[in-house]
Amino acid sequence: MSSPTITEISSFAVDVEEGLSKYPKQLPSKYFYDAIGDQLFQDIMAMPEYYLTNCEFEIFSEQRADILQAIGDAPFELIELGAGDGTKTKLLLEHFLREQADFTYRPIDISGNVLEQLMTACAQEFPELEVAAVEGDYIEALTQIHEEHNERRKVVLFLGGNIGNFPLAEAKKFLNQIATCMDAGDLLLTGFDLKKDPKVIQAAYDDPAGITASFNLNLLHRINRELGGDFDLDQFFHWETYNPLSGEARSYIVSRSEQKVNIDQLHLSVHFEAWEAIAVEVSAKYGERDITEMAQEVGFEIKTNFMDKRQYFMDSLWELKP
Ligand code: AVI
Repeated sequence: MSSPTITEISSFAVDVEEGLSKYPKQLPSKYFYDAIGDQLFQDIMAMPEYYLTNCEFEIFSEQRADILQAIGDAPFELIELGAGDGTKTKLLLEHFLREQADFTYRPIDISGNVLEQLMTACAQEFPELEVAAVEGDYIEALTQIHEEHNERRKVVLFLGGNIGNFPLAEAKKFLNQIATCMDAGDLLLTGFDLKKDPKVIQAAYDDPAGITASFNLNLLHRINRELGGDFDLDQFFHWETYNPLSGEARSYIVSRSEQKVNIDQLHLSVHFEAWEAIAVEVSAKYGERDITEMAQEVGFEIKTNFMDKRQYFMDSLWELKP
């Protein structure tokens, strides 16, 4: 990700002030991803315990022919929300091109830098691929594409289990917003991390090397760096819980002692009681029934589900109903 823009800095300041003034305290996980957080997330994806990335990689490697078959022969716009470095998507792009599918790749990302790197990589690896990127917020960019009134079918990708970082009600709201930018018959392929042995999930978010802990605590570093905070990182620790009933893995940052933290740029002094926690992330896991109910609620019909061999992860292909 690139260096933060003015809007990002101010929305960061507003959200930090609001989140740390609440009780219980909370900070949005979207702020994990500064340059250091991006690197730590790459490290997480390479950890043996963090199975999500490999599962989706396996699905795309082994089932891309079935995915293309489910999409069908008609020309389409392949729209990816949060394209990142496109590592997994390139497996699809390569196969779709080999099969001479008639499509344009429309990556959307909030970071212009990420998109530039992706476009350079695509131009080198797939010179014949038509790419038309859109920089910006997912829904705004999707609305812009929708308003082009292109005849071609939209195939929207929302991969990597990112849907799980929304609490359930917000996930449904987000999927509804996506649906309003689509026409009947358009497709949505979403990655869902599935409910599984709680020990496997717990280990993915509480790794023995402490990479996830550093990833979460980087948020306090970020407040120190960008907003003039004086968090003493030794006085806080990462805590993870997985609730097999709700399917929610939740991350917290816990204060080891009663303490006061000053954040100069916010003119804010934050009091922590001993063992007081800040809620920082939800990573929801789903059962097949949860996914079916969600699709129905937001106006889609499930076309096909693609799962890895261990049945840890599902890419679910939905079609928008008339
Ligand atoms: C980006 N997102 C899908 C990750 C997840 O699994 O919720 C973020 C993450 N947080 C801790 N580890 C990975």
